[in-house]
Amino acid sequence: MFFLAASISSTNILLILAIVALPLLCIEIYYRNKQKPHKLTKDGLRQAPTPRKLPILGHLHLLGGYEVPYQAFSALGEKFGNVVNLQLGNVKCVVLNGQANIREALVTKGHHFDSRPNFQRYQQLFSGNKENSLAFCDWSDIQKARRDMLKTHTFPRAFTNKYTTLEYLISSRTEAMIAQIEPNQTTELKPLILAHCANVFLSHFCTRSFESNDKGFIEMIENFDEIFYEVNQGHAADFLPFLMPLHKKNLQRMSKLTHEIRDFVEKEVIGDRFESFDVESEPEDYVDSLIQHVKCGKSPDLSWDSAMFALEDIIGGHTAVGNFLMKLFGFLVSEPEVQRKIQEEIDEAVENGRLVTIGDRNSMPYTEAVIFEAVRLIASPIVPRVANQDSSIDGYSIEKGSVMFLNNYDLSMSNELWDKPQEFLPERFIKNGRVVKPEYFLPFGGGRRSCLGYRMVQLISFGFLGGLMQNFSIVPVENESYKVPIGSLALKKDTFKFCFVRR
Ligand code: HEM
Repeated sequence: MFFLAASISSTNILLILAIVALPLLCIEIYYRNKQKPHKLTKDGLRQAPTPRKLPILGHLHLLGGYEVPYQAFSALGEKFGNVVNLQLGNVKCVVLNGQANIREALVTKGHHFDSRPNFQRYQQLFSGNKENSLAFCDWSDIQKARRDMLKTHTFPRAFTNKYTTLEYLISSRTEAMIAQIEPNQTTELKPLILAHCANVFLSHFCTRSFESNDKGFIEMIENFDEIFYEVNQGHAADFLPFLMPLHKKNLQRMSKLTHEIRDFVEKEVIGDRFESFDVESEPEDYVDSLIQHVKCGKSPDLSWDSAMFALEDIIGGHTAVGNFLMKLFGFLVSEPEVQRKIQEEIDEAVENGRLVTIGDRNSMPYTEAVIFEAVRLIASPIVPRVANQDSSIDGYSIEKGSVMFLNNYDLSMSNELWDKPQEFLPERFIKNGRVVKPEYFLPFGGGRRSCLGYRMVQLISFGFLGGLMQNFSIVPVENESYKVPIGSLALKKDTFKFCFVRR
């Protein structure tokens, strides 16, 4: 799954300020943006406040200087209110703060805000057409069909065959990972985790798996990881297209990687399945569902090429889970007490030394809560939405085409909503021995564009975390820093070595 953090790094902002804004500032300091807060539009709606802006940059400079750019949105909310108009470069944007406003955009008026930004980078990353992407396309009948087709696979119902098979897959991959870990040694966990996640995904969606030393398989995983990292970066060029040439080389590289992925998936994952699929038979996996849709000419029309993009997006979901797990372990290595509590819970819930499985989730609320706490602290942004029509939020008018930043960072990290929000405290998700998620906790978005992979995240994370904690404690490696980057799911390739000590 390709993903957007929609963040613009401080370095980017400084660079742009240096090359573009400072000279302009010498000529003229500020555009006086005289728009008065709460001015009424002709529909009787209020006009959201707009901070003063700079020529060309608009308000881009306001996003610099924060560890996470979404913190800038919280600061803007405090200063100007919960709905703020911004001009980021040449893109009209709105920042929404507050649970009620975010819910209004996601759910109540979800159908007004179901498009995605039209950044050139995304067009280029998806062969010149962002509609090929599950996460960055605008809403359409095809997207609805793609989502419906996927749901049976990404949200398998408990006690069905699909669920039991997934449970088995996760357990066998967990066992294999445990066997590969050398106790008391420095362990490069990321390649191991990614490979096992990839095999869970490939087996579940495509009924195909690979040996962990298969060269093509390893290359595919590395390619996905590199693209995932790139897509999760925000760039000023998304708002200032004249800077795109700066990204040319990088985008060419991404294009090369996506072609390599396509080659591998076509040759090694699909093979002759398209030709040999019998359209009368029941689809057994996601690949079958796609082939059946295309071959039977079901409505809406989906070309095999578009279907391949959807498939690659979903196979790429393994990267999101793998990177998330790495961050989760990055938190846990500094939380021995949390590790001890998980282990205590496992020892109580799991009899006779068998491997912990996803079937144990109901009796292991603490372990489940650990996963939510990591998701909360990473505070990955909701993929920005775009207003597909003139609309309003909280009585403020929103112009068609506005890019909507829904500040779920604030919902995850606010001092008003959470006790000690900076601390890793899984207990906050447990009430009367059960896991309870507050309604303002929206890490997977909501409404018709909500995350399609969150159940996979929960299930695989539970199985892998449970299995590893059942067998090992994780301790820091000397001189390794465990500062977990927040505000995005992606983590650099060579990151976080751990030491696993057998229990
Ligand atoms: C911890 C990991 C993950 C987090 C925090 C996360 C979060 C999100 C969020 C916030 C959105 C945007 C929702 C919205 O606009 O309302 C999203 C969209 C999406 N996610 Fe995830 N996600 C994760 C993992 C995954 C995985 C593993 C998959 C694939 C199996 C996946 C598939 C998708 C897809 C396809 C979309 C786009 C849906 C659409 O636009 O219609 N995600 N995710």
